[in-house]
Amino acid sequence: MSLTAPPKSHPLSWQPFDAFMADALYHPERGYYTRTHSQIGQDAATSDFATSPVISPFFGQTLAAQVAECLLTTGTSEVWEFGAGTGALALQLLSCLSDKITRYNIVDLSGSLRALQKSTLATALQATPDVLSKVHWLQALPDVLSGVIVGNEVLDAMPVKLLARTGGVWHERGVVQTANGFEYADVPTNLRPPVDVLGLHDYVTEIHPQGEAFIKTLADKLLRSKQGGAIVMIDYGFGESEYYHPERSMGTLMCHQAHQSSTHPLEHVGEKDLTAHVNFTGIALAAQDAGLTVNGYTSQGRFLLNCGLLDHLANASFAEKSMAQKLVTEHEMGELFKAICLSTLPDFEPLGFAAGDRSHTL
Ligand SMILES: C[S@@+](CC[C@H](N)C(=O)[O-])C[C@H]1O[C@@H](n2cnc3c(N)ncnc32)[C@H](O)[C@@H]1O
Repeated sequence: MSLTAPPKSHPLSWQPFDAFMADALYHPERGYYTRTHSQIGQDAATSDFATSPVISPFFGQTLAAQVAECLLTTGTSEVWEFGAGTGALALQLLSCLSDKITRYNIVDLSGSLRALQKSTLATALQATPDVLSKVHWLQALPDVLSGVIVGNEVLDAMPVKLLARTGGVWHERGVVQTANGFEYADVPTNLRPPVDVLGLHDYVTEIHPQGEAFIKTLADKLLRSKQGGAIVMIDYGFGESEYYHPERSMGTLMCHQAHQSSTHPLEHVGEKDLTAHVNFTGIALAAQDAGLTVNGYTSQGRFLLNCGLLDHLANASFAEKSMAQKLVTEHEMGELFKAICLSTLPDFEPLGFAAGDRSHTL
């Protein structure tokens, strides 16, 4: 049976969860990221969730040290930001790196967020038109790509497949539309999590073919170029032994709306964010299989401290320090969020992973 063909027991209307999630997030008319409502911000009355560059400008200013080192080591001068959200990270990186960058390329699936990024950057950079002129939005990727690729919370926004073990038998969990709305429908499958999940108890989890294919595509494009480059991705997640831990029996799929999280992705479709944690082992293996080196993997807290966050905070106000500490403290974003660096340079030891590299745990 083809993986996406509707199973006979659920003719026509059954769709695999990744297809449903792609529609819920990116459908040109009703997708969550297509609507002009603002998804990302600090205020629960006007947004659904906050991300690191929106919480503190020190996020991007600190990440800039790692991007600068990657540019220097690879001898490249282009940055590629995937999923640029409000444009906050682009502004933070450009404020530190504009003299080292010839082009700042933005790729974002969301038309409404692209429009927001354009107006944010046009306003903030109106006094420096030479910097603004370096920013370009692309709808399609070139065959060959060199430079430094960055993405904050992009991998978690990529559609995932759902697998459900019930009665000891693995199923692919899909979605059917009924008169009462959407419902889950499971069909037997040969798909499996990448590691055995001990036990026979009922268990729901995700696999990430789209996120891994995305990394492979970027790796192929970097390796086709003469200069090559590096990829730095930051997101929430863990390695596969933690991801597929027998006790994590409900998976990691979540919804965000008005700064509240819930576990009902089939309700209010298109009105809330759907997201799943990242399996960083899968990302590392996809990169390695395509020919890149995994140069470092660590927690966001370690990464930002290694990149000099504390130096940036030396003259910051109490309020600024208080926001920046959310990025690094373990009970907020410092431990659940991870950074990974993948590159065309086998011997590169990036500064963000100098202390506390956990690549060996993947
Ligand atoms: C959770 S938001 C993060 C936004 C931003 N990076 C930040 O930190 O505020 C996810 C972003 O990734 C974008 N996105 C998801 N899949 C993408 C893809 N395959 N290529 C480019 N952008 C993508 C979404 O449109 C959205 O802008």
